[in-house]
Parts: sequence; C-alpha cells; structure tokens
Amino acid sequence: MIAPSILSADFARLADAADSVAGADWLHVDVMDAHFVPNLTIGLPVVQSLHKATDLPLDCHLMIDDPDRWAPGYAESGAANVTFHIEAARDAVQTARAIRSAGALAGLSVKPGTPLEPYLELLREFDTLLVMTVEPGFGGQDFIAEVLPKVRLAREQVRAGHLRLFVEVDGGISADTIEAAAEAGADVFVAGSAVYSAEDSAAEITRLRTLAAEVHP
Ligand code: DX5
Ligand code: ZN
Repeated sequence: MIAPSILSADFARLADAADSVAGADWLHVDVMDAHFVPNLTIGLPVVQSLHKATDLPLDCHLMIDDPDRWAPGYAESGAANVTFHIEAARDAVQTARAIRSAGALAGLSVKPGTPLEPYLELLREFDTLLVMTVEPGFGGQDFIAEVLPKVRLAREQVRAGHLRLFVEVDGGISADTIEAAAEAGADVFVAGSAVYSAEDSAAEITRLRTLAAEVHP
C-alpha cells in the first residue's frame, strides 16, 4: 500500500492535496507537537476536517508526547490507523486497546535508534508497525538503510505466525529506495516529498506501487 504524507503538501489546501492522491491506499497524516520532535504540524481539529473532506483512510502518525492521552481521540475522529511512538508511551498496551475499541487499527512506531526485539511480545496488541527510516520530524530527509534489519525481523515474525501486522516504512521513500524496503518485507510505504514534489502525483503513486509489487521479499 502507498500512503502519501500530507506533510509535503500545501497546508492551506489539504482537501485538494487529498484529492490529488485519490488513488493512494492510505493518506498519511504527521502529527507533531514540538516536544517529542522539534517540528510542529497539525492536530485533532485538522484531522476531523480532513476526514470529512476525503474518502481516503487516514493513517495518523503521532509524533507527540503523552500519546496515551491523545491517541484514542484520533481514532474517535475517524482515523483508520493511529500510530504512536514507543519512546513516548507510558502504557502502550492500554493505549493500543483504547485505539482499537474506538474502531481504528493501532500502530506502534520505532525511531531509527530504537531496537525492535524488546517489543516483539507487545506488538501482538498492534495492527501496524511503523519503522522510521529517517529521524522523525521533517520530510525530505535521506533514507536510512541501516534500519532495514528491523523490517526484516518484523516480516519474519509475521511469516512465522507470531505477529499479524502491516509493516510500514516512513521517511526517504522514493523510486530509488522503495525496492530495498519492499525486499526487506515492508508492505506499507509512506512517501511525502516523492509524491508531492512529483509533477504528476497520481502517476508517482502508481510507479511506486509497481516498483514495490515487483519485489518478492
Ligand atoms: C517524518 C514523517 C514522514 C515524512 C516523510 O517525521 O513521519 O511521514 O512526511 O517525508 P518524506 O517521504 O519526504 O521523507
Ligand atoms: Zn510519518
């Protein structure tokens, strides 16, 4: 699945930005609080408005402190998937359960320097694992290939039947890097600048999806 990130879109025209990627699978929404990450973006009211303005499932990526308090509200506001960071969570299990009982998929994200092994058991409570392939905070950064062993590990766990999750990658995904991520076992690909800086965003989504689909991990 391809999930364009509206972080790279024109924030004054978010409905148009959603329309321009109507052929995508999810619309990735980066929520940043200037605490967990240095950048500040958008929050719940914008997600609520966006949900009314598009049929695309919203994939909310919370890069915020205290996700235990805020994450369930995104699920209640109609997000299809709500991902928060393990580095910020106090009670990840309880928060995942609250997201799920509000009707969304629950996602857990790990920064590039955060290992996956300690969380394999915990991930049984989740529907999505978001492996950051850049340091969270900004679009347009270079893909960090060194994190791909985590993608591989997650895919192995899914194959072995220990976990049932989407394995999502986020950061620096483009036509140059998507095949490496797919080969490692990712099945959801966030792409911000690659999609929104393309002359034809719809064509870029198709190109990325085709490149990923041709890889057999
Ligand atoms: C970064 C965000 C990403 C970002 C990706 O912290 O989580 O979703 O939008 O942007 P690109 O694809 O430009 O690296
Ligand atoms: Zn993101």
